[in-house]
Amino acid sequence: MSSIKHVAIIMDGNGRWAEGRSRQRVWGHVRGSSIVSDIVEEADDRGIEALTLYAFSTENWSRPLQEINTLFSLLKKFLLKEKKRIIDNNIRFKVMGKLDGLPEETKKIIKDLENETKDLNGLKLTFAFGYGGRSEIIDTVNRLREEVKDRDVTEEDFSKYLYQPELGDVDLLIRTGGDQRISNFLLWQVAYAELYFTETPWPDFSRKEFGEIIEKVTTRERRFGYVKECEGFKISSLWAKKNKDSSHSKVNQ
Ligand code: FPP
Repeated sequence: MSSIKHVAIIMDGNGRWAEGRSRQRVWGHVRGSSIVSDIVEEADDRGIEALTLYAFSTENWSRPLQEINTLFSLLKKFLLKEKKRIIDNNIRFKVMGKLDGLPEETKKIIKDLENETKDLNGLKLTFAFGYGGRSEIIDTVNRLREEVKDRDVTEEDFSKYLYQPELGDVDLLIRTGGDQRISNFLLWQVAYAELYFTETPWPDFSRKEFGEIIEKVTTRERRFGYVKECEGFKISSLWAKKNKDSSHSKVNQ
C-alpha cells in the first residue's frame, strides 16, 4: 500500500502557459481548471485519502480584478459541473481559507456542497481558496490562546487547531510550472512532505504524469529524521554511550 495518503498541489504555470501562446493569462486558468477533474479522478482511483489543491492564495488578491474574477467564476463553474460526480464518487469536498471576497452565490454553492458531502468517506478533496499558510498559523495560535491556558502548547495541540486537522500532514507536495517554492502553502503540514517540482505547466499536467510522480515518490525512503533500523541501532548505542559518558540529557532530532 502506498505511504502517500495526503497529496497537495500548487497548480502553477497557468499565466506563462497562456502568454507563451500569445493569449491572455486568464486563458491559462481556464485551461488549468479543465484538468482539475482528471487529477481528482486519478487521486481517487489510486486510493489517495486527501487531495488539497492551491486554487487562490491570500497573495493572489493583488492580481488584476479581471484575473481574480475569472478564478472566482472558474471555481463556481467547476462546482456546478462536478457536483454530481463528487457526490456519486463519495468525495468529501471542502474549501479551506477565507471566502470573504467571494460572491454570495458562490459562497452558497460551496457551503451547500460541503454540507451535502460532509458525511461521505471517500477522498477528501479540498480547495485552498483565499488561503495563506501564515494566516492559518496565526489563526491557529489565536484559537489556541483561547483554548489552552493552563499549560504549554504541544505540537499535537497545534495540529488539532489547524483549519482542517483531519487532513493530517502532507505526504507529497507537487508544484507544477518549474519554480521551486512553497509559496505560503500548508506551512505546518509540509514539515516532512516529499517535495516534487515538475517543469510541466499546470494546463499541460496530466493523470499520467501525476500517477508517475506518485509511483516515483512511493519508492523514496522517508526517514522523518530517523535512520534505518540497523544504522539506528549502531548510532543509538553510540548515542547512549556518549550520553552516559557526558551525563547530559539530549533531545532526539
Ligand atoms: C498559479 O498560476 C495558479 C493560480 C493562481 C490559480 C490556480 C487555479 C486554477 C488552476 C484554476 C482554478 C480552478 C478551480 C477549479 C478552482 P500563475 O497564474 O501564477 O502562473 P504563472 O506562474 O505562469 O504566472
